[in-house]
Amino acid sequence: MHDLTTVEDFNEEDVLHKIHLAEEFKNGKSVELVRPVYAMNLFFENSTRTHTSFEMAENRLGMKLLEFEAQTSSVTKGESLLDTVKTIDAIQADIAVIRHPQNDYYKQLLDANLEISVINAGDGSGQHPSQSLLDMMTIYEEFQRFDGLKIAIAGDISHSRVARSNAMLLNKLGAKVYFAGPEEWMAEDLEEYGTFLPIDELVDQVDVMMLLRIQRERIDENAVIQFQPHEYLQKYGLNFARAERMKPEAIIMHPAPVNRGIEIESSLVDGKRSRIFKQMTNGMYMRMAILTDVLESKGLIRGGLN
Ligand code: CP
Repeated sequence: MHDLTTVEDFNEEDVLHKIHLAEEFKNGKSVELVRPVYAMNLFFENSTRTHTSFEMAENRLGMKLLEFEAQTSSVTKGESLLDTVKTIDAIQADIAVIRHPQNDYYKQLLDANLEISVINAGDGSGQHPSQSLLDMMTIYEEFQRFDGLKIAIAGDISHSRVARSNAMLLNKLGAKVYFAGPEEWMAEDLEEYGTFLPIDELVDQVDVMMLLRIQRERIDENAVIQFQPHEYLQKYGLNFARAERMKPEAIIMHPAPVNRGIEIESSLVDGKRSRIFKQMTNGMYMRMAILTDVLESKGLIRGGLN
C-alpha cells in the first residue's frame, strides 16, 4: 500500500490485516527500519487526536519527523497544496500525512505520481480512513466480528467524514448501519449505506451507538438548525434515559472531540459503556499499522512483515 487516502478500495481482508497488525503493536511488536525514514505531518485543519497519534506512531516506529506549520509555510504566500507536497517529495521525505478542508484533495497528489506516500488524515467531509480503521479495531476487540452487528451513527451526518468512511466500511464488513439525528443533516450520498430512523427507535436495538460532533465549522450559519444545547441532547443526543435502554453489551463510541452535554450527556463519555478513550489508544496502534504497511510497500522494513 503506497498511499492510504480512502476506505473505498478496502475489503474485509485488508481491514482484518490492519487490525491484527495494530493488535501486534499493542502487544509489544516492534519493527526495524532499513535506513532513516522521514515523515511530515501537514495539518491544514486543527486536530488533537489524529495529529498527536500519528506523531506518536511515527516516533514509536523510529521515524524522523520534519516540522510543518501551515501558518508559517509558503502556503501563506499562495503556494498550492500540490506544489507544497512536490517540494517535500523533492527533498526526499518518505511519507506525508495530510489533513485538508478540501474534499478529495488527495486525488491531484495521486495523479502526480510522486515518490512520497500520502496518508489522508481527513479531507473536508469526505474520508477519514485512519479513524475508520481505529473504529473497526475497537468494534472488533469488543465483539470479535462485524457480520450481523447493528451500528447506529447519530448526529451531524452530512458534514462528517467519519460517518462517510465508517458507513462504507461497515457495509463492506457485513454490519447493518442505521443513521439518526436531525433529518436536515442526513446525507443523500449515504442513503444507500443505511436506514435513517429516530434515535429512540434505535437505542435499544443496536450493538454500537456511535455519536458525532456537530461540526459548526462546516455548517453554513444561515442553514444552522436553531437549537439550544439541552434541546439538541433531548431530541437527538444520547441522554441518560436513552442510555438506560441500551442492550447490556452495547457500547458507546465517538470520534471526538466531544461536545459534552450536546450530542452526549457528559458523564456518559467517561462511563462504563464508553469506548471513546480506548478509540484514542487504538488510534495510535492503528496508525503504527498503517505507517508500517506503507513502509513495507517501499521496502523500508528490515526483513519485511513476516
Ligand atoms: N477524531 C479526530 O479526527 O479528532 P481530531 O480532529 O482531534 O484529530
